[in-house]
Amino acid sequence: MSVYTEKIIILDFGSQTTQLIARRIREQKVYSEIHPYNIGLDKIREMNPSGIVLSGGPASVYDNDAPISDPGLFDMGLPVLGICYGAQLMMEHLGGKVERAENREFGKAELSIAYTGGIFAGMETEPTRYQVWMSHGDRIEQAAPGFVATASSAHSPYAALRHKEKPFVAVQFHPEVAHTLIGNDVLRNFIFDLCGCHPDWTMHSFINSTIEEIRNKVGSNKVICALSGGVDSSVTAALVHRAIGDQLTCIYVNNGLMRTGESESILRFFRQKTSLQVIDVEATTYFLDELNGIVDPEEKRKQIGFGFIKIFEEEASKLGDVRYLAQGTLYPDVIESVVFHGKAPIKSHHNVGGLPERMQLDLIEPLRELFKDEVRELGLELSLPEEAIFRQPFPGPGLGIRIMGEITAERLNIVRQADVIVLEEMKNSGWYRKVWQSFAVLLPIQTVGVMGDSRTYENVIALRSVDSRDAMTADWSKLPYDILGRISNRIINEVRGVNRVVYDISSKPPSTIEWE
Ligand code: XMP
Repeated sequence: MSVYTEKIIILDFGSQTTQLIARRIREQKVYSEIHPYNIGLDKIREMNPSGIVLSGGPASVYDNDAPISDPGLFDMGLPVLGICYGAQLMMEHLGGKVERAENREFGKAELSIAYTGGIFAGMETEPTRYQVWMSHGDRIEQAAPGFVATASSAHSPYAALRHKEKPFVAVQFHPEVAHTLIGNDVLRNFIFDLCGCHPDWTMHSFINSTIEEIRNKVGSNKVICALSGGVDSSVTAALVHRAIGDQLTCIYVNNGLMRTGESESILRFFRQKTSLQVIDVEATTYFLDELNGIVDPEEKRKQIGFGFIKIFEEEASKLGDVRYLAQGTLYPDVIESVVFHGKAPIKSHHNVGGLPERMQLDLIEPLRELFKDEVRELGLELSLPEEAIFRQPFPGPGLGIRIMGEITAERLNIVRQADVIVLEEMKNSGWYRKVWQSFAVLLPIQTVGVMGDSRTYENVIALRSVDSRDAMTADWSKLPYDILGRISNRIINEVRGVNRVVYDISSKPPSTIEWE
């Protein structure tokens, strides 16, 4: 359980934008957490929240299998904000009426406010109208007893409601999305005025409370942490180190699937710029031997994960007497598993899976409540240099999953050279930090080309660059043509064995970011 005294609990009914509600609240420096819609009242009581938000969701409240939370929620004396489905559920629970709407509202709508107190404090009544974002096929037809409409739109007479005596408010629109221009004001009014929260959840306070938590948990025991060079494990290590100093040992395994010069630069960075104790293990030959002949992506991941665990276990047992493993698990990894229509994991991401049970290690996951951009903010607060914090994410199995088909030293060489060019051009043009990830993928086919006067039959490189906030969804980056052209020219001219470059214009979903 988290240590923050003031928090807002969000009950998730499966909306695509539930995470955004948490982010928007945290941006106001108030801590917030997402929980499944059917969490027990006891658990909620235990968390002692200052208020509750009911998220949107794809269901209809009158469906037989609609997700329904315990109506006792409204007897807890806590302020409640219902959003979209959450608003409809509030009406349904408290005696109002929700029906399928004749005119559905999707996208931008204009809101007219009738009451400028509560969540609409500081706003104006008609003729002023405010742009909001709607996404609903049902609508509230009748307010529950005690509620009055506080705003309307063309197709929603009850676009917002408030209870006349109790701190219950409901909005049909989505305050968490950027297209709702008054969204932040609405949330701010809810958390500060109705819930009485204070804006004191900052990275500075997070560091202090987390350090205390880690110290209390670890005592005088030893902790290990696997470093990948990526931002999550670097920030985890820096934070744990600040808490317990040299009780922490970090282990870096070079699996031979890193990019050009990457292992050297990661180790140089940790040795020169931090005081972490780092053990480095050179395991290129081991991994390439194990991967010999494997083409199936899941099998590759399994082998890489397995080899990693084996080496890590060997190194950790040399240290003797280790009790804890520190790991950079982030909030999206945690909440993906509580979403209402539980999704099966699409790919097995390895982290250090399996290791804690085998070695009987307890986990320390100090970032499990944070989003990626909060982790970056935390890294800056911990004085990690920007080069470490703003690195693009790189998958644990490394280039192993960017080579379609068999991994050989020769094919690794091709994808490495192409990758250097992609990163150089992205950095030189200022695009590296604007996108989430940009990289080269080596395809398992040859195509015809012409170089000089001869016909060639060589490899294809796919260039992938995506924009994303947390890798759960992504869109292909609209890179300028001249950058695409330069990258393609350079790869074809400079990388032997490549005569064609294609640009991947697929979004996630239905594609994924990596090709394997
Ligand atoms: P996908 O390809 O699933 O990727 O859209 C989402 C994010 O996760 C990274 N990724 C991985 N990270 N082990 C990791 O540690 C893996 O096996 C793995 N596969 C994908 C990917 O780079 C992207 O940031």
